[in-house]
Amino acid sequence: MIFKQLFDSDTSTYTYLLGCESSRKAILIDTVATQIDSYLALLKELNLTLIYTLETHVHADHVTAAGILREKAGSKSVVHRDAGAMCADLMVTDGVFLQIGSIEIKVLHTPGHTSGCVSYLLADRVFTGDALLINGSGRTDFQQGDSATLYRSITQKLFTLPADTLVYPGHDYHGITVSSIKQEIALNPRLGNGKTEAEFIAIMSQLQLPYPKHIDEALPANQACGKPQQSQLQQG
Ligand SMILES: [Fe+2]
Repeated sequence: MIFKQLFDSDTSTYTYLLGCESSRKAILIDTVATQIDSYLALLKELNLTLIYTLETHVHADHVTAAGILREKAGSKSVVHRDAGAMCADLMVTDGVFLQIGSIEIKVLHTPGHTSGCVSYLLADRVFTGDALLINGSGRTDFQQGDSATLYRSITQKLFTLPADTLVYPGHDYHGITVSSIKQEIALNPRLGNGKTEAEFIAIMSQLQLPYPKHIDEALPANQACGKPQQSQLQQG
């Protein structure tokens, strides 16, 4: 498998490229509109055809490239059916499998950061979006966020995966690229080391995070799969 972890430094967003070496088909997870040219160049350089763009959720901090990649590369956009992005080509639910060539991905519904959040499980690794972050979790104070729901998604769905499963998050703000389920169960300061649901809810209620800078432009754009005219906006 071809695997690349790409980083948008403006929004600290990780985008993942997965490619099947025999069929030359590819998937991008959580694209960023300002990076479209680099995605297209990379696909060309690796001789890959983009089949799907997967969203882990409707993002509040950046605009997806899904809509423009659909036009430029012919890819299909995939989101959970509860994400509120009716522009998507494919609405998925928990337990659905997506396949391109030899790559098989299982959709895990992991709500709590938003109600339409999913994680994508691929063999020995899971792409957790903004549900489980390395040493953290997605925030739960907007976009239908709910701390109890997120606690259950992480502890019942993600922490029950094989312990050596690699965790690739949607963001990291400290330069860490990968973790594992075992490591997060042991060390995650919000949910690890046996933290209870009540303790997690208390931690989340005390975060007092600032209102996201770009939410007012990013949410409507992402609900429209990142319309071309919206993609020209500056994100940060
Ligand atoms: Fe998010």
